[in-house]
Amino acid sequence: MSITRRDFVKNTSIAFAGLALPATNILDTKDAAPVKIGVIGVGLRGQNHLENLLRRKDVEVVAICDVDDRMLGMSKDLIQKSGKAMPKVFTGDNYAYRNLLQTKNLDGIIIATPWEWHTPMILDALSAGLKYVATEVILGITLQDHWNVVNAAEVHNANVMMLENVCYRRDVMAILNMVRKGMFGELIHLQGGYQHDLRGVKLNDGKTAYNSGVEFGEKAFSEARWRTNHSVHRNGDLYPTHGVGPLAMMIDINRGNRFQSLCSFSSKTRGLHNYIVKKGGENHPNAKVEFKLGDVVTTNIKCANGETILLQHDTSSPRPYSLGFRVQGTNGLWMDVNHSLYIEGVSQKNDQWEEAQSYLDKYDHPLWARWSKDTEGAGHGGMDFFVLQAFIESIKRKTPTPMDVYDAAAWSAITPLSESSIEMGSQTVDFPDFTSGKWMTTKNNFALTNEY
Ligand SMILES: NC(=O)c1ccc[n+]([C@@H]2O[C@H](COP(=O)([O-])OP(=O)(O)OC[C@H]3O[C@@H](n4cnc5c(N)ncnc54)[C@H](O)[C@@H]3O)[C@@H](O)[C@H]2O)c1
Repeated sequence: MSITRRDFVKNTSIAFAGLALPATNILDTKDAAPVKIGVIGVGLRGQNHLENLLRRKDVEVVAICDVDDRMLGMSKDLIQKSGKAMPKVFTGDNYAYRNLLQTKNLDGIIIATPWEWHTPMILDALSAGLKYVATEVILGITLQDHWNVVNAAEVHNANVMMLENVCYRRDVMAILNMVRKGMFGELIHLQGGYQHDLRGVKLNDGKTAYNSGVEFGEKAFSEARWRTNHSVHRNGDLYPTHGVGPLAMMIDINRGNRFQSLCSFSSKTRGLHNYIVKKGGENHPNAKVEFKLGDVVTTNIKCANGETILLQHDTSSPRPYSLGFRVQGTNGLWMDVNHSLYIEGVSQKNDQWEEAQSYLDKYDHPLWARWSKDTEGAGHGGMDFFVLQAFIESIKRKTPTPMDVYDAAAWSAITPLSESSIEMGSQTVDFPDFTSGKWMTTKNNFALTNEY
């Protein structure tokens, strides 16, 4: 006889409390029902998640929702090819997702819609009684959005996890491992960012997602349909979490440390306009659009334990992709751009960079050592497997998600705070404490084992 996920978790949670069971064991239990997941927003990112969900034996995708027929068609194809049952499809208008939230026995949802929809969808999901809500980056638009999500998660005693996949990047996790072993000494300065030429993503021809034209908004497809508008109207670090999430875990943000203040500087704005003129001609109507977002936005953050973080948002200029990580302590540093590190007394030659790879191999994180086979084909070099695994395993074990609502709020609130700072002439602004003091006593338990 099969039982529902909620019953199963209820009946077995006591048994799990003192045991660190391997992830797959839960599934091996004959009566364990698969985790029932709904996906809101099955655009290009939602389809990545869908594919990874469909590969798992412990998940049943019971509902999907989108407002775009083409995206729904692509998603249905993926489901058909997987041989799994077709989930219930919700569509028709922007609030069709509210009907999805009423699906019986839903264990969790994944939100992969445009940024402006994340907060309302999370709040509605929590009101509907969902205890596990995963959202793509970012959490909200305004600072108040972030508070609203934190407050609602507390009121409903629910988990809101931002799917920050870069926290699980293999090199980043090896460096986290080295940080925890004290190899860099005491950390003092960190750098990261989102440095990705998105001109061909923010502008397209309405049919092909990448490098195909210079339209945005209604006439465009996928991200160019909505993301570009943020570059028209906002100036700040619009995408801070890929850079800051992994760094925050290395210096125990919200777990003994916290972001205290921030200031941002914005460069002049040229890239998107120049791209439109180059590809579409100076008479193209979009050549008249004034983009507010500076081409390079640089943010400095001061932390309670004395570290500084430098973040860069750089999405409108020709440049190879790089998140630009630098992790520096009293003994040495790692930088990802030159694939190198230097550790005093350990590196062979004084004052000379050393290839990082042998260290990355030696200090491979236990999660990667255990699961790397399962990551094959999972997207973004395998890190997408881990972020989803973390969400699903938390549901199965009825435990808090390893990245919580306070992480999501602190990392994502950098956007509205950097906008405020820039608007006030790059003044330093205080960082709110979303944890209301809990950061002082919470311990860092992110990725401590090879479980999830
Ligand atoms: N973590 C990563 O590596 C990564 C990579 C890409 C995108 N993302 C994030 O994923 C999210 C989605 O990005 P994307 O690239 O899939 O964009 P996309 O435009 O391809 O997909 C968004 C989908 O949401 C749908 N949608 C819009 N309003 C809706 C509503 N009210 N109800 C239901 N569906 C609605 C759209 O029709 C579209 O299909 C964004 O937050 C983005 O930043 C993250």
